[in-house]
Amino acid sequence: MCGIVGYCGEKDAAGILVEGLKRLEYRGYDSSGISVGYNDKLSIIKKKGKISNLQAAVPSDMPGTFGIGHTRWATHGEVNDLNAHPHSDNSGKITIVHNGIIENYISIRKKLKDEGVKFITETDSEVIAQLVSKFYEGDLEKAVKEALKHLKGTYGIVAIHADEPNRLIGARNGSPLVLGIGEGEMFLASDVTAMISYTKQVVYMEDGDVVVVDKDGFRTTDIRDNERDKEISTVGWDVGEMEKEGYPTFMEKEIFEQPQAVLRGMKGRLDPDQGTAKLGGLNMTNRELRMVNRVIILAAGTSSYSAMTCAYLLEKIARIPASAELSSEIRYKNPIVDPGTLYFVVSQSGETADSLYAMRELQRKGATVLGICNVVGSTIPRESDGGVYIHSGPEIAVASTKAFTSQLTAMYLFSLIMARMRDMSISKGKAFVDALSMVPENINKVLEQNEYIKTIADKYADCHSFFFLGRGLTYPIALEGALKLKEISYIHAEGYTAGELKHGPIALINEVTPSVFLVPDDSLREKIISNMKEVKARKGPIIAVAVEGDTDVADIADEVIYVPKAHELMYPFSMVVALQVFAYHTAVALDRNVDQPRNLAKSVTVE
Ligand code: AGP
Repeated sequence: MCGIVGYCGEKDAAGILVEGLKRLEYRGYDSSGISVGYNDKLSIIKKKGKISNLQAAVPSDMPGTFGIGHTRWATHGEVNDLNAHPHSDNSGKITIVHNGIIENYISIRKKLKDEGVKFITETDSEVIAQLVSKFYEGDLEKAVKEALKHLKGTYGIVAIHADEPNRLIGARNGSPLVLGIGEGEMFLASDVTAMISYTKQVVYMEDGDVVVVDKDGFRTTDIRDNERDKEISTVGWDVGEMEKEGYPTFMEKEIFEQPQAVLRGMKGRLDPDQGTAKLGGLNMTNRELRMVNRVIILAAGTSSYSAMTCAYLLEKIARIPASAELSSEIRYKNPIVDPGTLYFVVSQSGETADSLYAMRELQRKGATVLGICNVVGSTIPRESDGGVYIHSGPEIAVASTKAFTSQLTAMYLFSLIMARMRDMSISKGKAFVDALSMVPENINKVLEQNEYIKTIADKYADCHSFFFLGRGLTYPIALEGALKLKEISYIHAEGYTAGELKHGPIALINEVTPSVFLVPDDSLREKIISNMKEVKARKGPIIAVAVEGDTDVADIADEVIYVPKAHELMYPFSMVVALQVFAYHTAVALDRNVDQPRNLAKSVTVE
């Protein structure tokens, strides 16, 4: 969603701000803008549409060594140049950028209007600039703090004043804000990607922080001026990981990175001798883990399907009742928190508002919540009671791929630990470890079929609707396959458990509605084959993802993508990769913007 970048230093700010905004493009946006200070004046340039529009409007020699920039994902007010950020006060001396939602903006706006303030945008954010202006008496820090006392809602804010050159004031409440420390220059941004080409030294702001930044230093307090100590962290990845490295899109690159990402997620965590695993960050003793009698995993979107896969797995191998819940639902259910229940929240970004607020609600009721996240230093891992980083590296494409298989990896390890403490023998544990170690190679074998899967995708790209069907562990994989296809190709796709087909959806099967069946060689294979026959009897085209050597499937299906034979619990990995590749090539065939699909944002930081 919206992205923020702020700069103060000695270089020309405009170019650095635009470059930072380009790095934030992946978050999803519909307009962008910058404000740069020079000679006691602030210049603002804002443009609807792609950052290239903004870039074209910014003069290459625009002077000024401090400024702020923003990518907007519209919530309040239509998408146009005016509603884009930065927003200014009536004097034109103050500009602000804001991520989040100001819930009481209508009443503030009314009050300020009555006092003679003129509003020119439809946004909630403009009230911040006007409020800061109202309280400004020669000290921007003071004015921002005073303004914050009147705001209800969520914000990550950066403000500048024309008469206070090379100074940024940032504040955070619910929307991420990170400080970047360079050599004689400083950055404030909604995530580190905006500044990674300049510095790896960062400070993650926390809710309630107000930070005053100039080119040589920073000071953090709360809004009542109490000092807040901060720790400097070093970002563990390079700018190179933010490049496409020869791939036409980030999504394709990330799909192909999966063997390495999964391997990294297991590295140092498997214990082959004991047939188990070790996860350092859980912050729970073995005794505490043994006392867990239920696991509930919360997440949204793609992460909810990895959560669901692992809930199935936990019940199966550890014999612990486990379920996955949508974050957006559980929060408002007034959840019953039982002391024996362990909660997980799974989130690639670690910033998804639904998941974050659900986690806080559960913690308020006494729950222990562990995080499974990718983005280091993001809010969920910092506020959770422990957890695991999946280490899949930066995921830039809006459609999540490598984070999904890395989330599975982390939760497979956790399931193994729990299973070995309960029901699973050492020999079965060892077999599980061996099977998990084979996953990267099995994914590679699917990726080797890239061209072949493309021919299938090209053939069916004109269809208007698809079904994705699996059972047991591959049911969530079918849901994820359907989500992937609809997100990036805009083709309607529904995921179902194959057993449900006959209870209604089969009414939609016809010659032009393909069904993608997932057919692992497990105890449900025969059942799925029966479901395939039901579809074939109604002339529905079938694309099957089956196990090498399964000729029965080839006799029924129109197309088969084979995955290598594996331990029956490992098929979610190879099968989901086949579906990602299929969705990817379908979207490419339809000439879609694969990395930035319409209406979607990488990190959904509003409810
Ligand atoms: C993934 O392809 C989607 N763009 C989306 O469903 C995503 O998984 C969801 O918004 C949750 O994000 P998170 O993992 O960062 O919490």
